[in-house]
Amino acid sequence: MADTTVSISDNGPYWVSGNFVVNDGEGNSFPVEGEAYLCRCGQSEEKPFCDGSHNMVGFQDSCRA
Ligand code: FES
Repeated sequence: MADTTVSISDNGPYWVSGNFVVNDGEGNSFPVEGEAYLCRCGQSEEKPFCDGSHNMVGFQDSCRA
């Protein structure tokens, strides 16, 4: 069983559950214990995390793995 799971929300963020670290492009590290929602739409004011802006901008992407 995987320690960390990444799920892709239709028209929304990546939902990541487990214990892990998110590193952004500026070298900042965000340790996470439990779960986090990572922005896919590029519109969040809280990047790399989702702040719900995808709903306001009508982000559309329902890719399947
Ligand atoms: S995916 Fe939610 S704000 Fe970008």
